[in-house]
Amino acid sequence: MKNIAVIGSGTMGNGIAHVFAQNGFNVNLIDINEQALEKALAVINKNLDRQVNKGRIDEAGKESTVANITTTTDLKSGVSSSDLVIEAATENKELKMNIFRDMDANAPANCILATNTSSISITELAAFTSRPEKVIGMHFMNPVPVMKLVEIINGYSTSEQVTKTIYDLSIEIGKTPAMANDYPGFIANRILMPMINEAIWTLHEGVGGVEEIDTVMKLGMAHPMGPLQLADFIGLDVCLAILNVLHDGFGNPKYAPCPLLVNMVNSGNRGVKSGNGFYNWTHGTKDLVVSESFKR
Ligand code: CAA
Repeated sequence: MKNIAVIGSGTMGNGIAHVFAQNGFNVNLIDINEQALEKALAVINKNLDRQVNKGRIDEAGKESTVANITTTTDLKSGVSSSDLVIEAATENKELKMNIFRDMDANAPANCILATNTSSISITELAAFTSRPEKVIGMHFMNPVPVMKLVEIINGYSTSEQVTKTIYDLSIEIGKTPAMANDYPGFIANRILMPMINEAIWTLHEGVGGVEEIDTVMKLGMAHPMGPLQLADFIGLDVCLAILNVLHDGFGNPKYAPCPLLVNMVNSGNRGVKSGNGFYNWTHGTKDLVVSESFKR
């Protein structure tokens, strides 16, 4: 396995490209938007500089990582010589289904098709290909260059050989794999999203303010970020989409998204990426939204 294509150059896609390139793989980063690709390369450079400044890698390591990455806006040619394609597009089922159909039509017959989806069924995506045994979930965590976990999700038809290849590959790129089966939210979001949702309910019902809720979980439970900051970091729209998958998939009201989350997403407050969420991010760092003005 040498040639990796990554589809989607957003936060997760550029992080995945960064990690594979840093580990000596040829990476073709694909996006329909040329400007998004330019931005992704700038982000990768910035994150590599951060690693150089911390002494984690040297300048030569940075240069070889950058040299291992090519970009294209053409999916068809972009996947044509890949051993593995990882889809990391927006968390939208219809979009991902179309991408899987295109990946299947254009990638070599022996190529493994993986998805970084955080909650959409691997089995359903596999059904849009002629090779369901070669379709698998490879769920990275943000920030990808830092977080050690890869949650590997077997679809109903994923072959043992493909699972083993992806498991070994995850170790080769310095990650720790954890296996999950294909049920809504897999392991990570089955547990994480109800916690975030409960934190939002706690705010919504006035049990505590933003700072208090995050402080309790940071200092009381040793989480690196409080759940509301983490929700801003993940994207409130992404959190809502995942909760809807859990709610629809299990039909259990305990997964119903808090109405405050729904209102925030509908009003365009999507967290770090939109500048506003539970915190204000417009200065590039976390500012507490004054509690009196925080709409419940
Ligand atoms: N690229 C490369 N390195 C990065 C980086 C990036 N994007 N972001 C941070 N780093 C590095 C820093 O250089 C630093 O390195 P050293 O340890 O070598 O010094 C290290 O990461 C820690 O960074 P900072 O000191 O700047 O900041 P921090 O201590 O506050 O840590 C954090 C930042 C790692 C993001 C930490 O706050 C954290 O772990 N947060 C929780 C992250 C999390 O839960 N992610 C999962 C989200 S869920 C998900 O992704 C999946 C889903 O389906 C929703």
